[in-house]
Amino acid sequence: MIEAIQLTKKYKKTTAVKGISFKVKEGETLGLIGTSGCGKTTTLKMLNRLIQPTSGQILINGKDVTTTKPEILRQGIGYVIQNTGLFPHYTVAENIAIVPRLLKWDEKKITKRTEELLDLMGLPQKFAPRYPSELSGGQKQRVGIARALAANPPIVLLDEPFGALDRITRGQIQQEFKQLESLLHKTMVLVTHDIFEAVELCDRLVVMNKGKIEQIGTPKELIFNPVNDFVRDFFKVNLFQLELKVMLLKDLIPKIKPIDVNGSNIKTYIEDSNLLDILEDVEESSLKKSLIKITNQQGDSLVTTNCEALLTAFYQTK
Ligand SMILES: Nc1ncnc2c1ncn2[C@@H]1O[C@H](COP(=O)(O)OP(=O)(O)OP(=O)(O)O)[C@@H](O)[C@H]1O
Ligand SMILES: [Mg+2]
Repeated sequence: MIEAIQLTKKYKKTTAVKGISFKVKEGETLGLIGTSGCGKTTTLKMLNRLIQPTSGQILINGKDVTTTKPEILRQGIGYVIQNTGLFPHYTVAENIAIVPRLLKWDEKKITKRTEELLDLMGLPQKFAPRYPSELSGGQKQRVGIARALAANPPIVLLDEPFGALDRITRGQIQQEFKQLESLLHKTMVLVTHDIFEAVELCDRLVVMNKGKIEQIGTPKELIFNPVNDFVRDFFKVNLFQLELKVMLLKDLIPKIKPIDVNGSNIKTYIEDSNLLDILEDVEESSLKKSLIKITNQQGDSLVTTNCEALLTAFYQTK
């Protein structure tokens, strides 16, 4: 759906982006990660023509973006700006309504959509007439996301959408974000410096370094098969947790030793659960000795085992 071909952006003193190419499939979430200043925001802004590339080409649905007027192009591309970028002199409702107004929706439809989006983002309706300065950081970020979704664009670009949040709030919003029905089928490009967020929310990741791409792949490919030292080092901090996070129960099943059971403490997980969530869950409820039943989506039992056998299977699979 989106294709970047040999994109380059030169400024007077720096070349922010150096001939990068990547594709984003329809319905996919692609993450851009890398050290600060490596060109993530610049790349994102070139996709919706907020920045003009020095050279290279961007195709959306096979069509060169330069053949569409920037205003028209941006109506089909939601954009969540780094540090929320809300207009301070616009109310929450006015901020959300920016694109619908550009599209000349009638006021009734705009009001209805604004109410719907406030609900969707878990924001109370009474926030509509408030100004951004009267909201917390997390609330502002939710408004920023609501604004990007207002006209239901097929493509959404997000630049550090949860950047300013503490870990707990961020975790909650990430979970909500992941489950948002209206985002399920969107094509998204997400910039983040939070590796866990990238792994949690993205189908594939682009690891950038000094304006270039080091590797593109699924989180699992990057974590288990980094192509060079840069990528390896990038995931080195918290590597064990990341490995657990990308390993799903179904990946382990061939190596899992079944345990014969008549115990009572059995916890059930579906095969798409990741190992990190399970180990955290088990620890939290102090069920260290408890048994784990793995089922498929339909609820049929596949195997029953315990944590120790899961970890053994993890090491063997890895
Ligand atoms: N308007 C500009 N003029 C000159 N240099 C710029 C301009 N905008 C960005 N740069 C430089 O281009 C490089 C890439 O910037 P960019 O904002 O894309 O980085 P980033 O990966 O988004 O970083 P961060 O994670 O800190 O947001 C940086 O070295 C930056 O200083
Ligand atoms: Mg940036």
